[in-house]
Amino acid sequence: MEFDETKTYLNLARAFAGESQAGMRYQLIAREATAQGYIALADEIKTLAKNETVHARRFFEELTKRGKELDNIEIDAGYPYHTGELTEMLKLAAIDEKNEHERIYPAFAKDAACEGFNDVAALFNMIANVEKHHEQIFNYLYEAMESGNLYKNEVPILYVCKECGHMQTTTEAWTVCPLCKSSQGFVSLNVPYGKEKS
Ligand SMILES: [Fe+2]
Ligand SMILES: [Fe+2]
Repeated sequence: MEFDETKTYLNLARAFAGESQAGMRYQLIAREATAQGYIALADEIKTLAKNETVHARRFFEELTKRGKELDNIEIDAGYPYHTGELTEMLKLAAIDEKNEHERIYPAFAKDAACEGFNDVAALFNMIANVEKHHEQIFNYLYEAMESGNLYKNEVPILYVCKECGHMQTTTEAWTVCPLCKSSQGFVSLNVPYGKEKS
């Protein structure tokens, strides 16, 4: 069977489109966060946006290295088009990530394995694992913002001003940096990387 007749060929094209769009959607969320003064939050989201564009690159590479002269690929797939408040966007992004790692990429990995593309199956699984962490990060950010706890913690933790480096171990970050007078939006976040939601 020619590569362009496989499910894997179409799944890679769908995944490339999905990752490209996720990268852009997250840049738009970061833009809104910046506009609202949440600079450290915007930085976190820009990192996630970059992750998605790298995923897109890897899918593109896997697709183009196997395809013959690829001009145009017809795909049908649904992609998220959300709009709303910043907190709502964070929540919806978590749901999109959950869909990717629980439903979409495992199915694509299965198709790839069935068609004998074990390295592509492994790539889908590796990226699904990243998306699981992305879901956790978005959920954390959503819940912290929604509950007003983005800059509060039950036990003292280290907060750092990303502008001047001022740091303090406390249960609540300063609203105005005592050193450089930057706003709270510049204070580092307490994102629980790699931890399951408790
Ligand atoms: Fe991704
Ligand atoms: Fe992601």
